[in-house]
Amino acid sequence: MADTRTHTVTFQPGDIVCEGVPHGANLLRVALLEGVHINASCGGTGTCGKCKVMIQGEYDGGRSAKLSEEDFQADLRLACRVTVLGGLSVTIPEESRMGDAVALTHERRPGPGRVLSAQDLENLVTGWSIDPVVKRFALALEPPDAANNIDDLDRLKLGLKAQHQIENASVDFHVIRDLPEALRMEDWSVTATVVERPRGPKVIQVAPGNRTSEDYSIVLDIGTTSVYAQLLDLNAGRTVAQASEYNDQISYGEDVITRIVYSQKIGGRKKLQEAVVRTITQVVEKVLDKAGVDRCQVSHMVAAGNTTMTHLLTGVNPKYIRIAPYVPAASFLPPVRAHNLGIDVCDHVHMYTFPCVSSYVGGDIVSGIIGSGVFQTGKITLYVDIGTNGEAVVGNREWLVATSCSAGPAFEGGGIKHGMRATRGAIEAVQVAPSTGEPHILTIGRKQPIGICGSGIIDAAAELLEAGILGQNGKFKEEAAGEWLRRNQDGQWEYVLVRAEYSGTGQDIVITEPDIDNLMRAKGAIFAGITTLLASVGLDMDAVEQVIIAGGFGKYLQVDRAAAIGLFPEMDASRFTFVGNGSLLGARLVSFSKDMLKAAEEVARMMTNIELSDNQGFMDEYMAALFFPHTEMKFFPRMEEILRNAGS
Ligand code: FES
Repeated sequence: MADTRTHTVTFQPGDIVCEGVPHGANLLRVALLEGVHINASCGGTGTCGKCKVMIQGEYDGGRSAKLSEEDFQADLRLACRVTVLGGLSVTIPEESRMGDAVALTHERRPGPGRVLSAQDLENLVTGWSIDPVVKRFALALEPPDAANNIDDLDRLKLGLKAQHQIENASVDFHVIRDLPEALRMEDWSVTATVVERPRGPKVIQVAPGNRTSEDYSIVLDIGTTSVYAQLLDLNAGRTVAQASEYNDQISYGEDVITRIVYSQKIGGRKKLQEAVVRTITQVVEKVLDKAGVDRCQVSHMVAAGNTTMTHLLTGVNPKYIRIAPYVPAASFLPPVRAHNLGIDVCDHVHMYTFPCVSSYVGGDIVSGIIGSGVFQTGKITLYVDIGTNGEAVVGNREWLVATSCSAGPAFEGGGIKHGMRATRGAIEAVQVAPSTGEPHILTIGRKQPIGICGSGIIDAAAELLEAGILGQNGKFKEEAAGEWLRRNQDGQWEYVLVRAEYSGTGQDIVITEPDIDNLMRAKGAIFAGITTLLASVGLDMDAVEQVIIAGGFGKYLQVDRAAAIGLFPEMDASRFTFVGNGSLLGARLVSFSKDMLKAAEEVARMMTNIELSDNQGFMDEYMAALFFPHTEMKFFPRMEEILRNAGS
């Protein structure tokens, strides 16, 4: 059981009281999330020794060779190494502050929004139980004798009917081929894997012995930039391993349009299909290795992806997705044998792909609407999935309207000089000292920094704006040049986030002006997509009762930082919920429950789509959003004041 206790941490100077700090939280992270500045050059790996704080209260850790005996006796500890176990009083000494009276320089942040625990995520959707569409059944059959010499196939079918009430099952031909040996190998004890179909049950595998305790599925989120996999234990109803990789298709183009164009070249479609299958094979191998599970213990796979990714994975021609009136080959694809797609699993394993809504609202969004419970809620909900394609859906259990816009891969670390996915060693949070311009960072897993992920890029841009180092036009300010802002060899401005001595790559980690430019276009597209969608249904943000944010970085994103750059309007953080990878959430449910599979099909049928590619309103909104946070400041009163005070 997760420890749900929370504690109060007070920082001095400034008497900043942080309530509701989760038991076991990292102290440096608590400070960063609250906008309390503490020096941290190494990303929280304990190597720079700059984050010394004086602590009283209940905690664990914080000792380090970086601290002298004298420091230790004076209750000094490294904040990045401290785990909060109770109420704490923390004093930030002068040497650990970012400039003068740092804790006081920032106004309190409006809270981080709701980040859901694994248990909360499980509870988002109600009224389902573990009852997968593919199941394993143990059979103990009578061996044949002179009085009972019916053939093996009929014996199997009779056993299914008598022992599991499965009537009129058909049997896959390749099962019949090896049936005699399978039945006799363990003395007529076998396990039949049965898939439930609209036409009736079908046996897709018969293995010797009772194998019902070994029943797994693999769920995939096939993104344009990244592929994520989870291995699920279908008996225990839990995730046992997960892995991710960049989609190998990236070398053929960064977005779906360039991939579709490439697919029309001779051999292009095949190459793209092989590329994504290569990536899937890698992540499948990783999850099986991590959990020590044999690939023949996998009963089925579920994949959710955007419409183009779904077409390319299954080898279906995506040509007309990019040509008006933007028609996909099929929104609903039948299950296919994963093995026939080239995926290295046993040949009985079928892959279910999520149904799509339109050419640009795909199965990943249907999956997110299922996984986040939007399809069950009465509240008007805005669901936003931030990836290479940004998709937004508004509605509730009665109605759903969706749209999609191309954001580019910036939020997944693509197109960013030192960008990376949100994995260990990625800079996930950044603070910039207003007085000195010095950066302070936190990495995922407190590993040596090796790059920056989407939330880190957003944080960096927001902090640089507020510190007056970055202009609202997305250009660095020449007058801020100095120790941290410099021109590189190509004459471009770049801001140094991590010096080589603290980086895991042995080189400086920087954020460049073209990186900021990519971020500006990405956030502009998402903001414009949301506002155009809401306008199309006659709503504004005030009418939205809850906002659910999905995306690879969702877990680490800070609402106020996202609003500071204009990704969302400024809103009460309590209206936001972060679900992480929404697409995987829905794929999990569909894998566990055949009722959820039906629900996904219903959602895909009921959702309507607003096409933005020829929408002049969207283009106007997009152009207006190419500014930090926006050319129209009425949605950003807090930021307007901060920038006014900073003299921007
Ligand atoms: Fe704590 Fe570097 S030692 S952040």
